[in-house]
Amino acid sequence: MQIKSAEFVISNTDVNKCPKAGLPEYAFIGRSNVGKSSLINMLTNNKKLAMTSSTPGKTLLINHFLINKQWYLVDLPGYGYANRSKKGVSGIQKVIGSYLEQRMEMTCLFVLIDSRLAPQKIDMDFMNWLGENEIPFAIVFTKADKQSKLRTDTNVATYLETLKEHWEELPPYFITSSLKATGRDELLDYIEGINRSLKEK
Ligand code: GTP
Ligand code: MG
Repeated sequence: MQIKSAEFVISNTDVNKCPKAGLPEYAFIGRSNVGKSSLINMLTNNKKLAMTSSTPGKTLLINHFLINKQWYLVDLPGYGYANRSKKGVSGIQKVIGSYLEQRMEMTCLFVLIDSRLAPQKIDMDFMNWLGENEIPFAIVFTKADKQSKLRTDTNVATYLETLKEHWEELPPYFITSSLKATGRDELLDYIEGINRSLKEK
């Protein structure tokens, strides 16, 4: 799929204030600093679209970006940022929770996982919660450029093995680097395939 246009539409903390157009949307979630905003910029070929930072906790709002005037990419705040105040953490969790539970347009959630890390409890718990709530998701392993391909592949294989202990069926997964645009075509084709199947319905 070609990205012809990508426009910022609105940021907010209230799911009721998200765009009303009824278009399908694809949201990005994961721990702070895992690379959600960078991935959105990589997919849209626009380094300035979503705000990124080497300091965790940059994205605090639900951010809607309209793509090709037909669907949305949604940048969400990160979870699991230890330096946030208790109030900050519960506020962010509420924003994420209400969006995921209430937003009917949310078509597929991409759960980002740092490709260098061993499985973390916080991500496993989160994916189990998605399963319990029947929220469709795929996994995106990020920052693959930070290590050799062999290491990434080995780590991802170990990760999938751990997932198999909890899940009968594995979710779709992608290996990406926002620096090198790895996985861009695969992710965009996946989204395009879902968009097409929605139109046929
Ligand atoms: P929050 O909004 O704070 O939750 O973080 P985020 O998940 O949106 O992460 P962000 O995209 O802001 O990236 C965090 C840091 O990781 C930045 O310094 C990025 O430049 C870096 N980064 C993100 N993706 C990649 C990648 O694929 N490769 C490399 N080398 N660095 C990356
Ligand atoms: Mg961000």
